[in-house]
Parts: sequence; structure tokens; C-alpha cells
Amino acid sequence: MEGGGGSPPETLTEASQLECVLPPSLEANSLKKSNWGFLFTGIVGGTLVAVYAVATPFITPALRRICLPFVPATTKQIENVVKMLRCRRGSLVDIGSGDGRIVIAAAKEGFPAVGYELNPWLVWYSRYCAWREGVQDSAKFYISDLWKVTFSQYSNVVIFGVPQMMPQLEKKLELELEDDARVIACRFPFPHWTPDQVTGEGIDTVWAYDMSTLRGREKRP
Ligand SMILES: C[S@@+](CC[C@H](N)C(=O)[O-])C[C@H]1O[C@@H](n2cnc3c(N)ncnc32)[C@H](O)[C@@H]1O
Repeated sequence: MEGGGGSPPETLTEASQLECVLPPSLEANSLKKSNWGFLFTGIVGGTLVAVYAVATPFITPALRRICLPFVPATTKQIENVVKMLRCRRGSLVDIGSGDGRIVIAAAKEGFPAVGYELNPWLVWYSRYCAWREGVQDSAKFYISDLWKVTFSQYSNVVIFGVPQMMPQLEKKLELELEDDARVIACRFPFPHWTPDQVTGEGIDTVWAYDMSTLRGREKRP
């Protein structure tokens, strides 16, 4: 019994197969379109990831218990810090060093200077600036949380903080620093310490505290 009564399944001839395939020009066009689509998605996605990666370290300090944002010291403030360092020797640390301007200024004055900063972008930028200014050997920067660093090895400590952190930092420095250390606070003073010197006005005010005076001990010559 040939054919079994039914009609045989339709087989596609070469011609009909060709009809289902897009003409070469259209196919190339749609390929081009999908390539542009991938490129566009890649660029938008990449840009979003880059913006997120750069912005996050600047935004997260605002979410911490003590919000210490990046506000760079003014030129006058730096001059006042340098004034407070006259006749001083030894190492210097800037707690929360931002873009490194205080550390670099101190290094230019001959101090071996170190900055601790939570924001990695600012640390990398500070290292670049130190290299550009030719003080990369005496100005060092580390990505660190200031509350996890011990400052006992430093003779000169600079802090441009916020009022909320000063009581806690005061206690920390009191416990850690040697008698011959000097602490320099920019813009906001420590709440309980009496400064040895004050210079500048308004937002550029800088306070200097000698640990020996705070502890009622003789200053070493
Ligand atoms: C007010 S800015 C001072 C910057 C710099 N000292 C200056 O005077 O130009 C405070 C800096 O502390 C950094 N910071 C905030 N929280 C920190 C933390 N827990 N440890 C280290 N650095 C921190 C911020 O990213 C910011 O750069």
C-alpha cells in the first residue's frame, strides 16, 4: 500500500529554504544593530559600575556612626598648621588625610609624614600628588580606619575632624601619645583639653595641645 492514503509530509525545497533566510543585506544590518546594542549596554553598564565604585567611598562616611566627610583644609588652615609646627621635630600624622594636602605640606617642611584615610581613591590620589610634588619618600599614605590605628609612634598629630568625634579621639590620644607629642586640631577644638596655642580665625582656626602640659609635666628641651 503506497502512500497510506495520506499526503506525504511536505519537504522544503532549496528554493523555499532560501525564502526563509534573510537576505544578506538585512542579516548584516540586524547583526550591526545587535552589536551596537551590546556596545551601548556595555558602556551604560560600565559607566554605572564606575560611578558606583568612585562615589561609594565618598558617600559611606555619611552612613557611619560618626560622619566625617571629605572637606579639604583651606590654604590658610594649612599655613596655620605649619605655623604650629615651627620648632617641632619628629614624625607627623594626619588622621583622616583626605587628598593628602596637610601631609604633603608637612613633608615639604622636612617632617616624615603619614596620612591614614578610609577612602582608597583619596589615598591613591594623595600618593600621586606626593609623587608630583617630589615628596613621595617622606609622605606616606595608608588606607586605614582611624579608630583602628595606634598613634603612639607620632610626635605631631594633626586632626581636621568633626565635633562628634572629638571627645572619643581625645581619650584615644590621651592613652596613646607620648609626653613630647603635640596635637594640632583644625576648625574644631577638643572639648576638655586647654590649648597651648591658638592661631587663625573662624573656619581656619587651629589649636595646638602639648601632651606634657595636659599631663602637668615639664616639657622636654
Ligand atoms: C574633614 S576631612 C579632612 C581631610 C584632610 N585632613 C585635610 O585637612 O584636608 C576628613 C577625612 O577623614 C576621612 N575619614 C572619615 N572617616 C574616617 C575613618 N574612620 N578613618 C580614616 N579616615 C576617615 C574622610 O574620608 C575625609 O577625607
